[in-house]
Amino acid sequence: MQVVRTRAGLRAVLAGAPRPIGLVPTMGWLHAGHVSLVERARAESATVVMSIFVNPRQFGEARDFEQYPRNEARDLAMAEAAGVDVVFAPNVDEVYLPGFDTVVSVGAISLPLEGAARPGHFDGVATVVAILFALVGAERAYFGLKDYQQVAVIRRMALDLALPTRVVPCETVREPDGLALSSRNARLSAEGRARAAVLHRALRVGAERLSGGERSADTVRSAMRQVLGEEPSATVDYVSAANPDTLAELTEIDGRALLSLAVQIEGVRLIDNELVG
Ligand code: PAJ
Repeated sequence: MQVVRTRAGLRAVLAGAPRPIGLVPTMGWLHAGHVSLVERARAESATVVMSIFVNPRQFGEARDFEQYPRNEARDLAMAEAAGVDVVFAPNVDEVYLPGFDTVVSVGAISLPLEGAARPGHFDGVATVVAILFALVGAERAYFGLKDYQQVAVIRRMALDLALPTRVVPCETVREPDGLALSSRNARLSAEGRARAAVLHRALRVGAERLSGGERSADTVRSAMRQVLGEEPSATVDYVSAANPDTLAELTEIDGRALLSLAVQIEGVRLIDNELVG
């Protein structure tokens, strides 16, 4: 596995690399969710590139950016064990060159849910992913459906800007109690970690209401809120039952629905979702 930190270094290692190239963009603090993306990329690519870059432009508060967990030595060992060929781990200045002054801003699909809760977040994500796509020139890039809206935003961007990298969505990897793996879980105490299973329980209750024949989106959202309400340490950011294509909130559910929620536990913001139907 080669580790490169500059654009020139990346260009050099990829010049003769066998194709197709699969790209797995990450912010590090790797876990089994990231590894599942690498495994999918490994199965479909001759060369697997992982980027590890905590992108300051997608964090609202500087504190959130600073508190984001980092451990490069551990990440590199995990990436190598998972079968990554090239790690691109640049400094901020190598991604955003002096005078950098461009924003990739995706429209309607980036506005609700995470976009509403974290203004500017998806501008930061779309901008860095556009840069990574340009620098790596991969045939495919792998993203987790745990961040469903992120996948939708990046797909929209790739389509609209005619980027040649195909976006591949991958299933969410969970702990045995249902908690979606996330780098942020590391910031929870053991007690908070146990309480965080309430996110998945709420989604399950919403999905069960739907499979039981419930059609009112309000009733489904209320059922999810009620489960979250039983966990006093959980502060709800949003609870949503939305159209999976537009992410607009539903009134009646007579087909597919994206159930999603954002909750804070011990000051750590956790998100999860389930696609139903
Ligand atoms: P990060 O949070 O490190 O996630 C990197 C990739 O791993 C994303 O595509 C994310 O959806 C996926 N992922 C996270 N948890 C997962 C899980 N439990 N199961 C499956 N996949 C999971 O998402 C980002 O970084 C950044 O926004 C990035 C796209 C790298 C741009 O900076």
